[in-house]
Amino acid sequence: MNTEARENAARELHEQADRMPSSLFETGELLRLIADRHIAVGGVMGEILQPHLGAGFAVLPGRRLESALHYLALGGEAPGTEDFYPCLNGGRDTEPGAAERLWPKFERLLNQKSEEISKLLEQPIQTNSPGRSDIFSWALSRGDDAPALVGPVRLLEIGASAGLAALWRSDILNEGGPRIEQRRGCDLNPIDLSQPDGRRWLKAWQAGTVAGLEKLSILDDTDWLEHMAEQAPIDQEDARTWLGKRLAEPWEGTTVVCHSFVQMYVNSEAWADIENALNERGAMATDRNPIRLIGLNSFPEPGGKARTQLRISDWVGDGVERREVFDIASGSDANPRVDPATRVVTEVPTAIPARPAAHTMPVGGQSQLRRTKPRRP
Ligand SMILES: C[S@@+](CC[C@H](N)C(=O)[O-])C[C@H]1O[C@@H](n2cnc3c(N)ncnc32)[C@H](O)[C@@H]1O
Repeated sequence: MNTEARENAARELHEQADRMPSSLFETGELLRLIADRHIAVGGVMGEILQPHLGAGFAVLPGRRLESALHYLALGGEAPGTEDFYPCLNGGRDTEPGAAERLWPKFERLLNQKSEEISKLLEQPIQTNSPGRSDIFSWALSRGDDAPALVGPVRLLEIGASAGLAALWRSDILNEGGPRIEQRRGCDLNPIDLSQPDGRRWLKAWQAGTVAGLEKLSILDDTDWLEHMAEQAPIDQEDARTWLGKRLAEPWEGTTVVCHSFVQMYVNSEAWADIENALNERGAMATDRNPIRLIGLNSFPEPGGKARTQLRISDWVGDGVERREVFDIASGSDANPRVDPATRVVTEVPTAIPARPAAHTMPVGGQSQLRRTKPRRP
């Protein structure tokens, strides 16, 4: 690897470290140390990261590397680095200076486990942050001028991964709201929480903060995990084909489609198909059969920063999509918060002409699924 390639690799890790939210300060510091003290001076990771570099915003080589190291630590394969991770240090946030203090251990790990790390970097990104469910909960239950949800509700999550952002959360709708009668999701590579390795990856993708850790206690409840796998199945399928099929199934009540941190991984042609499926179903919506989309997505801004926005779109049968967009104010991508002052509302004509108001979706198709276990988050 020549000097220029090493410098480029180190620079890309720095750029990712700069984009990390303040809650991931120490993770950013670790990436900077890897860039400056390992890659820039000829360390093996420069070569190993090469296939993942320069490939655009969503590839996140630094995030992959950080999760690979976390994965090794969770399996007891990264001796001496445990203190860096809340999952292993008794639930403490990483202390300032920890990356520097533990650097010799990390450096040894990078050199000794380079082949394993290279394989782990191939794992598709599955950040799965339970903290994101607060946004969905807010978007479903806020009491302002948003159209009311009509029960029963079916919840369809695309790019659900392990389902912890929305699909598997019993508290996604506040008490008193309409009942969610059907939950179903899809993902190209769902994380199977019934398997120990699935649970280990889920933790590994949790960035190195305590955010969401408490919610991960559900991973110890294997009965509940099995129960949810039955109640809210996640199909292994591309959202591009899956969503159209699900939306074509009859439903009386509200259909909620949600996604978080998925759009950035889908190419624009495939995303256009997803939007078309929503528009098509939106054109058939009525006030008894409305549809709501809740989408959280991050995209690059000039200057190397990332911007995260929440979109809430409602179709209620009047031929328009009522679209609200909010900036995400603070917190990490794991624990985002909406900034209400940034709200922009637009009305977008649905691409497919709305049917006459008298048209209603066929009745039936409600799920027979019933919750039989106590609620868990
Ligand atoms: C960063 S993760 C986010 C997971 C989850 N939504 C969350 O917020 O915790 C992105 C997920 O999108 C999935 N994904 C990417 N492209 C997809 C597609 N075309 N169809 C279905 N899932 C996709 C990935 O497999 C991955 O699980």
